[in-house]
Amino acid sequence: MNEPASIKVSQLTKVFGKRTCVDRLDLEVFPGELYALLGDNGAGKTTTINMLTTLLKPTSGKFQIAGFDGVREPEKAKSKFAVVSQEVALYQELTAFENLMFIAELYGLPKVDARARIEQQLNQWDLLARKDDYISDFSGGMQRKLSIAGALLRSPRVLFLDEPTVGLDPGSRHHIWEILTSLKHDGVTIFLTTHYLEEAELLADRVGIIVKGKLIAEGSIDDLRAKLNHMKSICVRMSRRFNPEEQQKSLDRLSEFAFGDVSYDELRNTFSIALNSNGHLSDTLRALTDWIELEQIPINGISTSEPSLEEIYMSLLHVQTPAVNNEKPAPAFEEQTR
Ligand SMILES: Nc1ncnc2c1ncn2[C@@H]1O[C@H](COP(=O)(O)OP(=O)(O)OP(=O)(O)O)[C@@H](O)[C@H]1O
Ligand SMILES: [Mg+2]
Repeated sequence: MNEPASIKVSQLTKVFGKRTCVDRLDLEVFPGELYALLGDNGAGKTTTINMLTTLLKPTSGKFQIAGFDGVREPEKAKSKFAVVSQEVALYQELTAFENLMFIAELYGLPKVDARARIEQQLNQWDLLARKDDYISDFSGGMQRKLSIAGALLRSPRVLFLDEPTVGLDPGSRHHIWEILTSLKHDGVTIFLTTHYLEEAELLADRVGIIVKGKLIAEGSIDDLRAKLNHMKSICVRMSRRFNPEEQQKSLDRLSEFAFGDVSYDELRNTFSIALNSNGHLSDTLRALTDWIELEQIPINGISTSEPSLEEIYMSLLHVQTPAVNNEKPAPAFEEQTR
């Protein structure tokens, strides 16, 4: 990427008491990129966002937002980002309009611009008719939508969202996906956390997986898939039942060119190849079609499957969890940036 990173994080660490909750995190997110940080409950996602949005002081390490040092120049960094936090932070005793006006004033938007922008946001989130209602009368999902509306009142260069779609109905969820995609196309840098892996799969250019404060894997979903080759499989459905001799002959032949476990399912008349780490899907498919053509194997169809992000996540977590522990906390107060 040619443009400099708009979020640049180096060795960012947060220690609470004896527990290292974010452990020497390194990452970069570029303009127009959406990065999804995934991790189980308590993995350190909110703590990371709280540090990057200057709410929480890092124990050590540093970060920049749009070129500004987040620890040394927090005010300048703050002028470049907006945040939708995990816990909805609105004043219950103010109306929807008043809450947004309060946020607009914090952002220093001129009053006339603010009014127009607020109406536009309320309209976009289907809340215009409720603008004079108190937040205490809003449902949880409506409050969340209003928080997102608040973050979008000005046009941030960097947008942080901590589980933005929790509790939203499917229509609103799709709406936020569309908005995030269009912001991305406008060059906004988006950093979000989510437990909805289909959301990350749909939106993220890159994902990072954090386990007990450590980033254990990072990349595009295809990069992560490539690491888990063994989860790719090919199924060949036969158009007629194979007798035991044909089955054995085919299994022997398939095992010659397919790197992985080959099996025959009698019930479904199907040969399956579960590729191992040396097996390449495209090479195996080529060899398979050659075999089918040369030996005139009677088939009904071939299907391939790749792991979903959910399978990748579960597999990486399963592989990595035993290796990650917090027994040796990161050196606290080393390289203190302030
Ligand atoms: N103020 C605090 N004091 C002590 N420990 C804290 C504090 N804030 C967070 N933690 C600890 O930091 C760890 C990470 O918490 P964090 O809220 O960042 O997790 P998360 O990944 O956002 O989880 P979730 O998916 O549940 O939102 C947890 O062990 C939590 O108990
Ligand atoms: Mg959280």
